[in-house]
Amino acid sequence: MSQRKLAELQHALQQRASSQQLRTPITVEQYAGRLLGIAGQHYINFSGNDYLGLATEPMVLQAFAEGAARFGAGSSGSPLVTGQHQVHRQLIDALCDWLGVDRVLLFSSGFAANQAMLSTLSAKTDTLLLDKLSHASLIDAALHSDADFKRFAHNDLPALEHYLRQCKHAMVVTEGVFSMDGDSPDILAVLQLCQQYAAPLLLDDAHGLGVLGNEGRGSAVAQGVANSELFCLMANFGKALGVSGAFLAGSNTVMDYLEQFGRHYIYSTGLSPAVCAAVIKSIELCRSQDWRRDKLHSNIRLFKQLAADLPLLASSTAIQGLVLGSSEQALNASTQLREAGVWLSAIRPPTVPKGSARLRITLSSHHNQHDIALLVKQLRLLI
Ligand SMILES: Cc1ncc(COP(=O)(O)O)c(C=O)c1O
Repeated sequence: MSQRKLAELQHALQQRASSQQLRTPITVEQYAGRLLGIAGQHYINFSGNDYLGLATEPMVLQAFAEGAARFGAGSSGSPLVTGQHQVHRQLIDALCDWLGVDRVLLFSSGFAANQAMLSTLSAKTDTLLLDKLSHASLIDAALHSDADFKRFAHNDLPALEHYLRQCKHAMVVTEGVFSMDGDSPDILAVLQLCQQYAAPLLLDDAHGLGVLGNEGRGSAVAQGVANSELFCLMANFGKALGVSGAFLAGSNTVMDYLEQFGRHYIYSTGLSPAVCAAVIKSIELCRSQDWRRDKLHSNIRLFKQLAADLPLLASSTAIQGLVLGSSEQALNASTQLREAGVWLSAIRPPTVPKGSARLRITLSSHHNQHDIALLVKQLRLLI
């Protein structure tokens, strides 16, 4: 065993711990949507991404079980070998119909889908222009791609245009809802800039799908942009749809190219058939049960109204940020909330920029007025 390597790893771990950035894994013993059971205690959960409460919806659970019984627990291969079954086709058709796109490809995670989107679609001669607050999966994808890579100031259209003017073959990458701040770009304006400079627009809508737009079709649709106007759309099944996995969507040509050259697609086991069956049911409920979105949005309004005096980040989505500053402050706040029965994980660098450690509050259709009032009361005690 290499002592030198072990010492290097230990040193990095110690550094993480001394800067209050060590992550402590927790085991959820019981998940009941709004409630989390951890170490024998129950907490109101304000840290999940199950925005519509579909992760525990009995009809989704039943579809999962029946999907496994009918099609198997695993897909048994990569999609181009034996890993694409009938149920995968049904999911693909359901997504195309829902989102109004030509074609989709399924991936086992949003992280993998983002790797495929950026690294496969960009070439050496391209420059990827990413929003400064892009998710780690997009940043890593850009770093691993052959393309050049620049980051523009967050949601700053003049900054984006500055780069578009400079770069001959730019590709623009942004998110529908930013995962740590909960805000959104002006997608129509970004698209118009992209069209002006003939730059493809790639959108990660992990936190917009299901939550925003008519029937939950996502952030672009909510802002009057058809999903088919995007060069490529990524969204996942593990947030509002309550399951796991992800997809890329786009025109036939873009998807044909990804299918032939996307290494994360070709060399990876296809999604579990049971997962596909559950996601099909989630999509059906997401489309037909507007009450879930209505409830979520009324919870967001209530939270913002009750917390109007707190220094929240500007966001009208299910993700609400309360920046506290240092990692220590965020950890102390999280511990204090836990003692009051509220589960809210501290989000620290490197997930967010240095000095902006925070509480990332996520609201769901499962929460009730008492939960939200309790949360705001406890948050006020921290400020
Ligand atoms: C904006 C964004 N993109 C991509 C991902 C990765 O998705 P997945 O969890 O399905 O790998 C996440 C989830 O953390 C995310 O928040």
